[in-house]
Amino acid sequence: MILPSVNPTSTIAWKQLLEHFSEMENVEMKEMFSIDNTRAEKFHIKWNEFLLDYSKNRINEKTLKLLIDLANEVGLKESISSYFEGNKINETECRAALHVALRAKENELYHINGKNVVPDVYKVKQQIKNLTSQILEGKKKGFSGKVFTDIINIGIGGSDLGPAMVVEALKFYKNELNSHFVSNADVDYTQEILKKLNPETTLVVIVSKTFTTKETITNAKIIRDWILNKSNNKSVSNHFVAVTAETQNAIDFGIESTAIFPIWDWVGGRFSIWSAVGLSISLTVGFSNFEKLLSGAHKMDVHFKETPFEKNIPVLLALIGVWYNNFFKAETEAIIPYSQYLQKFAPYLQQGIMESNGKNIDRNGMEVNYQTSPIIWGEPGTNAQHAFFQLFHQGTKLIPTDFIGFKESLYQDKGRHNEYMSNFFAQSEALLMGKTLEAVEMEMLNISSEKFEKTAPFKVFKGNKPSNSILINKLTPENLGSLIAVYEHKIFVQGIIWNIFSYDQWGVELGKSLASSILEELNTEKPQIHDASTAFLIKAFKDK
Ligand code: F6P
Repeated sequence: MILPSVNPTSTIAWKQLLEHFSEMENVEMKEMFSIDNTRAEKFHIKWNEFLLDYSKNRINEKTLKLLIDLANEVGLKESISSYFEGNKINETECRAALHVALRAKENELYHINGKNVVPDVYKVKQQIKNLTSQILEGKKKGFSGKVFTDIINIGIGGSDLGPAMVVEALKFYKNELNSHFVSNADVDYTQEILKKLNPETTLVVIVSKTFTTKETITNAKIIRDWILNKSNNKSVSNHFVAVTAETQNAIDFGIESTAIFPIWDWVGGRFSIWSAVGLSISLTVGFSNFEKLLSGAHKMDVHFKETPFEKNIPVLLALIGVWYNNFFKAETEAIIPYSQYLQKFAPYLQQGIMESNGKNIDRNGMEVNYQTSPIIWGEPGTNAQHAFFQLFHQGTKLIPTDFIGFKESLYQDKGRHNEYMSNFFAQSEALLMGKTLEAVEMEMLNISSEKFEKTAPFKVFKGNKPSNSILINKLTPENLGSLIAVYEHKIFVQGIIWNIFSYDQWGVELGKSLASSILEELNTEKPQIHDASTAFLIKAFKDK
C-alpha cells in the first residue's frame, strides 16, 4: 500500500469532531470575536507576500486541534513524503503525481523509478525558452515569411484551463503575441476564433497528453486545414508545435519531431501548467515570467512540505474545508477573487478540485460512507456580488467562501483600487456580522410601525457565514504560482483525509465512450439501444 488507507470516520478524531460539532454548530462567530479580541491574531498566517486570515470560521482552538489529530491519524505526514518522493500515489493508473518536480530547483533530486527526473525537466524548459525567443525575436516565421502575431492553444481540460487561466491572469505582463484558446468541440466557436486571425501569422500549439482526445484532434484538423488552404502548398510545418506524452501520435498527425515538447505520465493533466503544457504562457508573457510562476509554486511546495500543520496554509485550508463539508454538510465552496484578471481561476479549480476529489470509492475499493469533494464555483468580485451574493447573505445554504484580494493595483491606481477592495473587506464582514433586527430598527426610526413590521424582516441578515481571506501584496507571476500551488496541495490533503485516489479520473470515461457510439448512430441509419429519453432525443435531432 503506497498511501495509508484509513476510513476517516473510523478515527478517534472523527468521533471527537462529531461531538465537538454539536458544541460548535450554533456558535455565533461574532460572539467568539467579542469574547476574544486576539482571535484574528491567533487565526492568521503571514507567509511571503501572503496573508491568510481564517478567523472568520466556525472554529476554535479545539476544532483545529481535532482536525489536526484527524490529519495525523489518517497518516498525512507519511502521505506528503510519499507524494514528494515520487511514489505511485495514483495507484489505479500506476503512476506518480510528481508535478512538484516541474518547479524544482536545478540541483534538487526528484526520483521516478530510481531516476532523477529534474534534468529532463530542465531540458524541456530549455526547449520552451528557445521556442519562446525564436518566436518573440521573429526568427521563426510562418509559411509566407511573416512573423507570428498570434497563437492558438488547442487542448481541453488540463491542456486548456491552466494555460488559459494563467494567460488571462498575467495579461498585465503580456508581450505583443496574442493568444487564443480553442477547447470545446463546438465547431461554430472554433470558426469564430479563426474569423479574426490570419493563417500566415498564426502559430498553433496542440496540447494533449494522450494526443487522442477527440475534441482536440477535431479542432487541430480544422485549424490545420485552415492554414493549408491558405498556404498554396507551401510547407506549414513551422506553424505547428505539439505538447504530448505520446510523441508518435503527434508525428502521425504531421508534427515535426523537433517541434514536439514532451510531458510525462507522472504529470496529471490538471496539474500540468508547470510543464510544457504551459508553453502558451511562456510565449505570451515571456519565459522569465513563466519561470517566476514556477518559482512561486516551488516556494509554496517548500512551505507545504516543511511547515507544521498548525501553520501550514494548504493544510489548514483543507482541514477547514473538511470541517464544513463533512460536519456542517456544506455542499459547495465558493472562490471569489477580487481581480478580474482571475476570472478563470474558479473554472480552473473546478477541474482541479472536482476531477481530483469527486470520487465515491475509497483507497480500499469500498464505497465511501461520507461526503467527498464539494462543488466549486465562483466569479470575480464585484461581478459576483451583483449576481449571486444575495443567496450568500440571505439564502438558506451554507457556502464557505475564499476571498482572494491584492493590496496593490497593477496600474498603481490606489484610489480606485481602494474603492474596489473596500468590497473585499465589506463582504466578508457582512457575511460574518450580518445585520440584526435592532440595527434595522435604528435605521427605520422615522418610519411608521406598520411599514416597519412589513419590511423589516427582509432587511435582516443572519450573518455567521464563514470565509477565508487571502490577501496578497500584488498579482505577480510568482504570487500566482504560489496561489495555484496552495490549492493543488489543498486537493492532496483532502484526498488523503477522504481516503480516495485524487489523481485518476475514471468518471469522465463513460460519457466519452457513449458519445463515440452515438456519433456512429448520428451518421448512419443504424439505431442503437438507448433509454427511451435518449432514443427520443436522437430521433428528434435526426428528423429534419
Ligand atoms: O477530462 C479528462 C481528461 O483526461 C483530463 O484529465 C485532461 O486534462 C483532459 O481530458 C485532456 O486530456 P489530453 O491532454 O490527453 O488531451
